[in-house]
Amino acid sequence: MSDTSEPRDGNDPREPGNPQDAHVPGGARDERAPGGSRGEHAPTETAGPSDRGDSSDPHNEPGDPQAHRRIRSFVLRAGRIGPGQARALAELGPRFVLPFRPEPIDPEAVFGRRAPLVLEIGFGMGDATARIAAARPDTDFLGCEVHEPGVGALLRRIDELGLANLRIVQHDAVEVLEQMIAPASLAGIHVFFPDPWHKKKHHKRRLIQPPFVARLVTRLAPGGTLHCATDWEPYAQQMLEVLSAEPALANSAEAYAPRPDYRPLTKFEQRGLRLGHGVWDLVFVRRADADSSIALPA
Ligand SMILES: C[S@@+](CC[C@H](N)C(=O)[O-])C[C@H]1O[C@@H](n2cnc3c(N)ncnc32)[C@H](O)[C@@H]1O
Repeated sequence: MSDTSEPRDGNDPREPGNPQDAHVPGGARDERAPGGSRGEHAPTETAGPSDRGDSSDPHNEPGDPQAHRRIRSFVLRAGRIGPGQARALAELGPRFVLPFRPEPIDPEAVFGRRAPLVLEIGFGMGDATARIAAARPDTDFLGCEVHEPGVGALLRRIDELGLANLRIVQHDAVEVLEQMIAPASLAGIHVFFPDPWHKKKHHKRRLIQPPFVARLVTRLAPGGTLHCATDWEPYAQQMLEVLSAEPALANSAEAYAPRPDYRPLTKFEQRGLRLGHGVWDLVFVRRADADSSIALPA
């Protein structure tokens, strides 16, 4: 079902000038909100009748009884889905997209084998995801993304590259991590170019904050790696501070790490680098002696 002739549909969250794009290569300041063009005035913190607590909030302490608002790291918008993406969603979705369920997956049943499992949070259009999965056939990958055109785009890449080691969950990764991933079960976690949320009043939406990092490490197996990358320097500094302060993690480098060979340079990143902008990788390892038995709230 490969169809490479479809023109870009303008929904690429990394496409410069795209209203979906909060990520501007090289960290050029862009005040638009992720997933939309209404700017950073757009996000609203919703507290609906079913919002009972902190399960969706990356920034609340686990079990915090005061937590009652949902502060999400994304704004969900209906993006235009191209015909190739729609076809991929219909034809390949049932095979490669796992429905969100509030119970841990059995990776062996999902992938039909026992292999190291890497979770990616916010894969965008999935280009790096597909290239990494193709280059590492001995590892299984689970990609989380809420942006439907991105899910369709990655399904197309799975088809084009014949990938058997990649599955997708189209759902908030914060909930996926907590509910679908068993403790100490991941060989790695990738968080590449998460939405930078430039404005100070929106920093609370950033994914890499102490409470969420504490949750991430409970899902990493001892020796498992947490790899983050960003091209927004203030966020890189925040990541370095937060990850360095997490007692269960050890930095693999002095500070920022050289880009590991397995993370491909995207064309957006190449463009940014050509313009002289920076990109910062952070690779932290879960210490062997860290406690993974922390019970997180349902
Ligand atoms: C700036 S884009 C970067 C995409 C991709 N990693 C890349 O490097 O091209 C950030 C992506 O993360 C997704 N995202 C943000 N928070 C998320 C969450 N809690 N769960 C799943 N996806 C999320 C957004 O929808 C968006 O596509």
